[in-house]
Amino acid sequence: MAKMEVKTSLLDNMIGVGDMVLLEPLNEESFINNLKKRFDHNEIYTYIGSVVVSVNPYRSLPIYSPEKVEDYRNRNFYELSPHIFALSDEAYRSLRDQDKDQCILITGESGAGKTEASKLVMSYVAAVCGKGAEVNQVKEQLLQSNPVLEAFGNAKTVRNDNSSRFGKYMDIEFDFKGDPLGGVISNYLLEKSRVVKQPRGERNFHVFYQLLSGASEELLNKLKLERDFSRYNYLSLDSARVNGVDDAANFRTVRNAMQIVGFMDHEAESVLEVVAAVLKLGNIEFKPESRVNGLDESKIKDKNELKEICELTGIDQSVLERAFSFRTVEAKQEKVSTTLNVAQAYYARDALAKNLYSRLFSWLVNRINESIKAQTKVRKKVMGVLDIYGFEIFEDNSFEQFIINYCNEKLQQIFIELTLKEEQEEYIREDIEWTHIDYFNNAIICDLIENNTNGILAMLDEECLRPGTVTDETFLEKLNQVCATHQHFESRMSKCSRFLNDTSLPHSCFRIQHYAGKVLYQVEGFVDKNNDLLYRDLSQAMWKAGHTLIKSLFPEGNPAKINLKRPPTAGSQFKASVATLMKNLQTKNPNYIRCIKPNDKKAAHIFNEALVCHQIRYLGLLENVRVRRAGYAFRQAYEPCLERYKMLCKQTWPHWKGPARAGVEVLFNELEIPMEEYSFGRSKIFIRNPRTLFKLEDLRKQRLEDLATLIQKIYRGWKCRTHFLLMRKSQIVIAAWYRRYAQQKRYQQIKSSALVIQSYIRGWKARKILRELKHQKRCEEAATTIAAYWHGTQVRREYRKFFRANAGKKIYEFTIQRIVQKYFLEMKTKMPSLSPIDKNWPSRPYLFLDSTHKELKRIFHLWRCKKYRDQFTDQKKLIYEEKLEASELFKDKKALYPSSVGQPFQGAYLEINKNPKYKKLKDAIEEKIIIAEVVNKINRANGKSTSRIFLLTNNNLLLADQKSGQIKSEVPLVDVTKVSMSSQNDGFFAIHLKEGSEAASKGDFLFSSDHLIEMATKLYRTTLSQTKQKLNIEISDEFLVQFRQDKVCVKFIQGSQKNGSVPTCKRKNNRLLEVAVP
Ligand SMILES: Nc1ncnc2c1ncn2[C@@H]1O[C@H](COP(=O)(O)OP(=O)(O)O)[C@@H](O)[C@H]1O
Ligand SMILES: [Mg+2]
Repeated sequence: MAKMEVKTSLLDNMIGVGDMVLLEPLNEESFINNLKKRFDHNEIYTYIGSVVVSVNPYRSLPIYSPEKVEDYRNRNFYELSPHIFALSDEAYRSLRDQDKDQCILITGESGAGKTEASKLVMSYVAAVCGKGAEVNQVKEQLLQSNPVLEAFGNAKTVRNDNSSRFGKYMDIEFDFKGDPLGGVISNYLLEKSRVVKQPRGERNFHVFYQLLSGASEELLNKLKLERDFSRYNYLSLDSARVNGVDDAANFRTVRNAMQIVGFMDHEAESVLEVVAAVLKLGNIEFKPESRVNGLDESKIKDKNELKEICELTGIDQSVLERAFSFRTVEAKQEKVSTTLNVAQAYYARDALAKNLYSRLFSWLVNRINESIKAQTKVRKKVMGVLDIYGFEIFEDNSFEQFIINYCNEKLQQIFIELTLKEEQEEYIREDIEWTHIDYFNNAIICDLIENNTNGILAMLDEECLRPGTVTDETFLEKLNQVCATHQHFESRMSKCSRFLNDTSLPHSCFRIQHYAGKVLYQVEGFVDKNNDLLYRDLSQAMWKAGHTLIKSLFPEGNPAKINLKRPPTAGSQFKASVATLMKNLQTKNPNYIRCIKPNDKKAAHIFNEALVCHQIRYLGLLENVRVRRAGYAFRQAYEPCLERYKMLCKQTWPHWKGPARAGVEVLFNELEIPMEEYSFGRSKIFIRNPRTLFKLEDLRKQRLEDLATLIQKIYRGWKCRTHFLLMRKSQIVIAAWYRRYAQQKRYQQIKSSALVIQSYIRGWKARKILRELKHQKRCEEAATTIAAYWHGTQVRREYRKFFRANAGKKIYEFTIQRIVQKYFLEMKTKMPSLSPIDKNWPSRPYLFLDSTHKELKRIFHLWRCKKYRDQFTDQKKLIYEEKLEASELFKDKKALYPSSVGQPFQGAYLEINKNPKYKKLKDAIEEKIIIAEVVNKINRANGKSTSRIFLLTNNNLLLADQKSGQIKSEVPLVDVTKVSMSSQNDGFFAIHLKEGSEAASKGDFLFSSDHLIEMATKLYRTTLSQTKQKLNIEISDEFLVQFRQDKVCVKFIQGSQKNGSVPTCKRKNNRLLEVAVP
């Protein structure tokens, strides 16, 4: 293989000419020869200015490899040999860099390679635009939408094994960086008649064959399908297999693509179910059945297929069956049901199949759009790629071809408008000399078809809406009337009316002279196809389907949304969508790819000159070249031109002060570009030859390199200098800091050394002074001492005679003073505790301090007793007072006393208040109770005792029965004269009453109590406070007790221990009561 040379221009190694503009001489022959020559050398692309002409090679060429993509990437349009990539690159770059929305218009006949071209454009753009996981997913989805749409929308025709049977316009959206964001696909009129019938040698849509060949047995069973194509009426048999096409493999590709695009498994399955249902619909057949009224009614021959369809789609079998036999017409709230004959039933069946399929297709497009739509709301740049069905001429051309050709007509129109017309108009606008070039403007044909009042489409709509019988023939008649005089319309009758019968034309046909040739249209089916009627019963049956996808495809079947208005006709719908498309395209910067088909045989290496010549003519390519040639290959506004090339001339670089045009003039003069090579327009410079442009570009490139070097040089210098300056600055800073640090350190050293030396010197000096001072002091001291001794000696000598007399006394006093001082100081530390009962006291140190020591002890004791007393509360004080009283009365007098010391005096032992038994007793007593206690009252008659409650109040003494609380006797305290008791350890006591008092009539009382001491004390104190007299307390082992008139002596004797520790009392005789105290 020859070594690849690096191309820098289109002109290098050119076969023929790469740009038709450079063709010499220019005529049809040379044009075709050039194409052929290039085609034979595998150069299928040729430019006409910026338009790419592509000739279908019908074989795969090695010119689309990733290396090729890299070659064309970011290169000038004219730099490399013509290629569809160069156009894609140009479009993409001006979209990305100049923010111009782009559209790529691909035109040509069916089979000329439009679809392939659109795929190449998309794959190139996908290869060069941004990278990254997210971007790649978007790209992948955009690219994978193709196989899906092709499976459902493409079919084999006589012209093309993979002919697009729908129009497709795809907007690819980019962000400001040029990364793809998503896309929007618009589809135009699917050729749905193909679903039910295909011309000889053609196939139905690919998907049917792919499904039957590629589906697994399991899937086929599920869809109730059989693999054999011949089982299905809708699949024509003569061309079921296409050479070089593997339907089964394609089926897998499509399933995979659906998954990538984002179809859920259940969605993909639903789609296949609808496809299966369509296929099976074709197998429903009808037979006539006579009815009583003589009319034929259709009946389904074999209901098995119907049953399976219903199972597959969840439709009620009876509903669907009825929809095939009856038709309900609704008019102004009236429902009329008519039966269908066999032909009508077939019509209904096919209409259903077509509608089901075409609606499924639209649904697919919408579903794909949903997946690929851009996710952001940022402003988008758009590149539109238009791949619409090419111009078609078949043996039998019907409504579909008419519509398709109309669309191509419109595209040609926009091409003419945007290139030829625009170009000429621009020359005129720019005031550039221009020789007019005639070209065929097809606006007149567009008008023939689309004119709103008398265009063919308008006529057709009018016919369809007209009441009365409407047939295709009446439509043709109408056309004959209205369009008879139109140059581009012909029919047998129209010609007839003017001259003769045009026998070259068959009946029921009309011919339109399209820009691309004459096409004869069979009028049959126009009305029906335009009406595109589906009986309402059928759409309602579909709406009732359990299959959600099918249900959603027939929203008009919803009885709640019944709409009596006619839906827009197919023709007017298409016209409207074409108009929108044209409007859209006009807002964008167009890029053209004009596809040419080299032969009718789909064969490689065959270049049918006549066929190509025909296409070149109707595409107006020669005119296109002429326009480019007559004019100038390149034009640009002055400002951008000056901006781009100003570096090529000293006067304009770096700034041009004057108007841009003058600048460009100066520039071109300076560069010595021949005068005939350019021309000055009003706002633009026109350059005749691309070569001149290339020259300019080359110069610019060279200059840019120089400038880049210059900039680089200056930048490097600047960078080094700044770096150096920075280094120097840093160095100075570092040095300054270091010096500072070093100086600091040195200074610290000197300072510390100085300090050391200083301190030594100071020390030495100080010591010296100290020494001197010490010496001086010693001298002084010595002098003083000597003087003192001397004085002392003198004084002593003088006073010796007074000394001895007083010395002894002084020494004594001093010694005593010292000793006493020491004694007190020692005492301070030896003090005993503050408890009044603590008997400890330190021993006396000196005999002569004996009295002082005792006195001190006494004072201390008194002081601590006082301290102790001071803590008492009033209540406690009272108790102690009582105890003190008791001790005064009984201490050392009664043997019982010591045991009472520890007992607290409680007084009210008996809680009368609390005991309910004594309520009466309590109520009877109003005064404060001082003692309430049970005592034993001694019976004086026999010495036995009974329990009594002894109560002492402020003024009275009361005795009450212990059980009942009954008061037995009450004695006012003034009547109590004396209390007697023994000196022994017993609780007996007698209360003596005043003689003659009322209480005394029964005699004195003799009691024994466990709390004798307390009772006696309390009685004594109460009497004292009430009567201001001291109660006489007699303590004696023998006393007299008054017994009514007699007195009895109570005598206490020492008793034996045998009766326990309780004293016993015995009456000895009339006058003696003996108490034995153990
Ligand atoms: N650039 C190409 N390289 C190789 N084969 C091509 C090329 N363009 C078209 N073909 C062949 O021509 C056939 C028809 O092309 P297609 O793009 O489908 O035509 P159109 O869309 O114009 O009807 C393709 O199936 C392919 O085999
Ligand atoms: Mg196509």
